[in-house]
Parts: sequence; structure tokens; C-alpha cells
Amino acid sequence: MTVTTPLIEARGICKYFGAVTALESVSLRLMPGEVLGVVGDNGAGKSTLMKVLSGMHPPSKGELLINGAPVHFRSPRDARVCGIEMVYQDLALAGNMRIDENIFLGREPLRRILGFLPIVDHKASTRQAQQHLDNLKIHVKSVSQRVEELSGGQRQAVAIARATAFNAKVVIMDEPTAALAIKEVRKVLDLIKDLRNHGIGIILISHRMDDIFYVCDRVMALFRGQNFAESALAQTDRNEVIGWIMGNKIRETVPQGMDLN
Ligand SMILES: Nc1ncnc2c1ncn2[C@@H]1O[C@H](COP(=O)(O)OP(=O)(O)O)[C@@H](O)[C@H]1O
Ligand SMILES: [Mg+2]
Repeated sequence: MTVTTPLIEARGICKYFGAVTALESVSLRLMPGEVLGVVGDNGAGKSTLMKVLSGMHPPSKGELLINGAPVHFRSPRDARVCGIEMVYQDLALAGNMRIDENIFLGREPLRRILGFLPIVDHKASTRQAQQHLDNLKIHVKSVSQRVEELSGGQRQAVAIARATAFNAKVVIMDEPTAALAIKEVRKVLDLIKDLRNHGIGIILISHRMDDIFYVCDRVMALFRGQNFAESALAQTDRNEVIGWIMGNKIRETVPQGMDLN
């Protein structure tokens, strides 16, 4: 495997919901340690594409490759096994449960009683959750706090901690800052930078140009379910990207995902 093998690659993905074409031959590549911004108008197909990448929806057509090898996800669990994690727009945390319980939900460390009966090892769970939050420089009063006591930004941080607790290679985030107060946005974006510095690949859906231009390495636009434009961040600007969202293109861009070899 060479360093140029994408962590995840989608080739010619189509997704139909009955008569609705949500995606038409969409391609995407994500490299290790890269933050890829995905933009597009409402209904452009962003969330559907992410659900295909994370195993929630099977594609109607097209191919998914992880580290260059074809995969067929039948569920988000299959994707997770391959290191693909998704942080959902609505977060999907359990508000009435503790932070550490949320981080491990369904994947708690186990210990055995009487030598064989597996039960959740709460001490290990608390210790590992604290350590993981420390690694990510996420500060909470205590991991035993209930999630419903946290601010929006802290909840988002816990959701990201949950997504990265198990050897994630790719983290997909759908509008992670949409519901946050301005001062919390920066913290979440800095957390994304931190993940990238650990070699994780991140796909960030956002309609906020401030987010895209603060944290992304590359940005791609979907328009009406298709690849529309794409650029390294350093070679574009906000006005151009806003134009793409509206379906305007001045210069030709070659989507990296499209130049298949
Ligand atoms: N589960 C579904 N059933 C039917 N149509 C869907 C479903 N999910 C998405 N769509 C349709 O697919 C298109 C793309 O939607 P979506 O991926 O949510 O766009 P975006 O996230 O860019 O706003 C829209 O026309 C939407 O109505
Ligand atoms: Mg969406």
C-alpha cells in the first residue's frame, strides 16, 4: 500500500429512492490526515452520500473502497469495523446517561465474573473515557456528568469522542457546528484539526464558509446529486465556493474523485 491510497474512495455512486435520484455517479476520495469539506444546497445529496459511506444506505450503483479494497457495507456496524464513523446531525447521544456511558454505548469494556460471565467493567470504562477525552483535550467537569447537563459544544465534543474512541480512520460529520453558539464552534473546529493531526481523515459537511475555510484542506461541491466542482482550499475562495453551491462555475475544476485511473 502506498501513501497515496485513499482511506476511503467512492466511485460512481448512484442512489435512488423510488423515482427520486439522490445521487448520480458521485465520486469522492479522502486521504489520511485530510479534512475534506463537502458543500451543496439543500437536497444536493450531501447527507445521502455520507449515509452511503457510513453503511446506512446501500448504494444503488457504484463502488466503495477502503484502503484500495472494495467493500460492501450492510450496516453502520460493518462500516465501523472498517474504521468509518459518522457523527450525526442530531447527535444521537443519550441525554440521561453519563458522558463515559455515551462514549462506550454498546461497546463497553467487559470484565468476567466467576471467571466467565462477562459484565461491563465500569471502572475501566470511566478511566478509558477520561483518558480519551484528555487525549482530545476535551474538558468536562467529570465523565460521570449526564450529557443533558452539557452545553451544545460539549455535547458535540462528546459525540466526536464517541466516534473516535475505537480506532477510527475516517470521521464523517454532518453539520457539526450548525446548532452551536459561536464561541463553541471554534472549539469543535480545533478538535477536527487535532484529529487530522493524528492522521484521521475527516469529511465535514457544512454550509458555513467560516468553518470550511478555517479547517478544510480541500472542498468539493455537489449540485443536484452530482459532483459539481472541487478544489484545494488554497486555490479557491468563499465567493467561488458559494457560487458552486448555487450552481455557478467560472473556471473548470477537476474533481479528484473523477480522474479515475
Ligand atoms: N430516505 C429518503 N427517502 C426518499 N428521498 C430521500 C431520502 N433521503 C433523501 N432523499 C432525497 O434525496 C435528495 C438528497 O437529499 P439529502 O441527501 O438529504 O440532501 P442534503 O443533505 O444535501 O440536503 C433530496 O431530494 C431528498 O428529498
Ligand atoms: Mg443534509
